[in-house]
Amino acid sequence: MKVAVLGAAGGIGQALALLLKTQLPAGSELTLYDIAPVTPGVAVDLSHIPTAVKVQGFSGEDASPALKGADVVLISAGVARKPGMDRADLFNVNAGIVRNLIEQVAETAPKALIAVITNPVNTTVAIAAEVLKKAGVYDKNRLFGVTTLDVIRAKTFVAELKHKPLEAIEVPVVGGHSGVTILPLLSQVAGVTFSDQEVAEMTRRIQNAGTEVVEAKAGGGSATLSMGQAAARLGLALVRALQGEEQVIEYAYVEGSGEYARFFAQPLLLGKGGVVERKPIGALSQFEQAALDGMLETLKKDIKLGEEFVK
Ligand code: NAD
Ligand code: LMR
Repeated sequence: MKVAVLGAAGGIGQALALLLKTQLPAGSELTLYDIAPVTPGVAVDLSHIPTAVKVQGFSGEDASPALKGADVVLISAGVARKPGMDRADLFNVNAGIVRNLIEQVAETAPKALIAVITNPVNTTVAIAAEVLKKAGVYDKNRLFGVTTLDVIRAKTFVAELKHKPLEAIEVPVVGGHSGVTILPLLSQVAGVTFSDQEVAEMTRRIQNAGTEVVEAKAGGGSATLSMGQAAARLGLALVRALQGEEQVIEYAYVEGSGEYARFFAQPLLLGKGGVVERKPIGALSQFEQAALDGMLETLKKDIKLGEEFVK
């Protein structure tokens, strides 16, 4: 299995690369690419860890040496938020970066499973889809927007609030990855109940968790370590699915039936070709249904921005 990380010298990229070096199955290859000249050095650094995962690092304008033969491509290249910014404020810089990198993926690793971390995810995934389509290699089962951080945050916060062991708590989070488009389905959490006030407060906390980190880092960036963990979780799940493991289920933002919006984060059964099945999001409470109805205009606008950027 070969996994490529694009943006590998950044805060997320380095944390992710460390987790992959230590957790990918023996015999895997890990390639790191970033425009930053330090990237080959990051690979040398990781290569001293005694695991049976071969690491190589590449920098400069050309990502293709890292992409050649890649089965999974994880993209965290781009700028991060500072306090006072919205994820949408990153569009001007990150849209072009994602377009350029996806063009290279289309050329060099057209069959790879691609997971986009770069914000604004609601829009960058639409950009990626359109670029792949233009190149004639788009497969909606192989492109993922990474929303795993919302899922792990929700688990952490709910377990803390309800004083439950972490292993007892799973929180579905659907929709997109910004503000109101992040929708935790607290009514579906097994074994706990919430008052109306708790639902409102917990939903807001999960939706604002990215901003919580941005403000706490006070200009030093956004979530990198928790995001590294989240991206490693999804990346390793994709690898397990590619290797034939059954019943691998993760949440991600993918193109679906269009019932809610063209792209929507939902539970997915993963397999050798990427998404095998888009699972239904289940019964919603009145609060969740209203939140879902209320988010769709924003989500569709975010998606359209990405589609129009490529046309
Ligand atoms: P960072 O600034 O620490 O790292 C970004 C890296 O991208 C840098 O090393 C930079 O050199 C590299 N880069 C920039 N342009 C490039 C290009 N054209 N080709 C290759 N590499 C390039 O930022 P970070 O904290 O790692 O965040 C990266 C992105 O991930 C941001 O857009 C951030 O908003 C996003 N993010 C998403 C989630 C999520 O849940 N999906 C969570 C956290 C952060
Ligand atoms: C997050 O959720 O932490 C990321 O999307 C980064 C951000 O800008 O909030």
